[in-house]
Amino acid sequence: MTERRRVVALISGRGSNLQAVIEGVRSGAAPAELVLVVSNNPAAAGLAHAAAAGIATAVMDHREYPDRESYDRALTDRIDAAAPDLVILAGFMRILGPVFVDHYEGRLMNIHPSLLPAYPGLETHARVLAAGETEHGCSVHFVTRDVDSGPIIIQARVPVHTNDTPDSLAARVLEQEHRIYPIAVRWFCEGRLSLRNGQVLLDGRARDPQELRADGVIA
Ligand code: GAR
Repeated sequence: MTERRRVVALISGRGSNLQAVIEGVRSGAAPAELVLVVSNNPAAAGLAHAAAAGIATAVMDHREYPDRESYDRALTDRIDAAAPDLVILAGFMRILGPVFVDHYEGRLMNIHPSLLPAYPGLETHARVLAAGETEHGCSVHFVTRDVDSGPIIIQARVPVHTNDTPDSLAARVLEQEHRIYPIAVRWFCEGRLSLRNGQVLLDGRARDPQELRADGVIA
C-alpha cells in the first residue's frame, strides 16, 4: 500500500473545498492524511468541518501580527511542526509572501474560481459576466510568487448561461471545484504529480493545456 502523505490545509471561510478534500481522503481515493487545518479567520465555518472530521485545527489571526513577514513566518513554523508533504490553500484569502511561497515550492497548491490565466483576483464570476464570456471555470495550480498564477495542474470548464447571476455561476463553478481539487490532491499523494523547472509533470509527462481541461470534468 502507498504510504499516506501528510496534508495541511489553509482556509479563511466556508471551507467547502476543504470538505470535498476531506471526503476524497475519507473515501480512500487519496493516500493522504489531513494532519492540520489552519484558518486566519477565527469565524471560518470550515473549522467546524475539520473538527467534525477529527482533524487538528489552529486559528492564526493575521490581525495579531505586525506585518506580512511576521505572519508568514509564524504560519510557516506552525505548518512545519505538522511535517506536511503537501500544503493546500482552500479558500485562503490572504496573499502569501515570497519567502513562504519559495519555502513550499512544488508542494503548495491553490484552487481559484476562473480558467487561469484569465481572471486572477477577486469577484471572478461578476467580471466574467460583465465581459460577456460564454465559458468560465476553475483551476488548481501550484503556487508561485505571483498571485493566482503558477503552473496549472487541472482545470474544469462550465458554460455561462445568458440568465446567469454571479451567484448562479459561482454555484456551477463550485461544483466543479469540488471535483477537481480532490483529483489534484490524489495525484500528488500518489506521487504522480510534480513541479520541475516550472512545469507540471503527471506520471513524468508535461501536461498540455488542452489536456488539462479534458480530465473528464468538462460540463
Ligand atoms: C472558492 O470558490 C475558491 O476557489 C476561492 O474561494 C472560494 C472558497 O470557498 N478562492 C479564491 O478566490 C482564491 N483566490 P470554500 O471556502 O467554500 O472552499
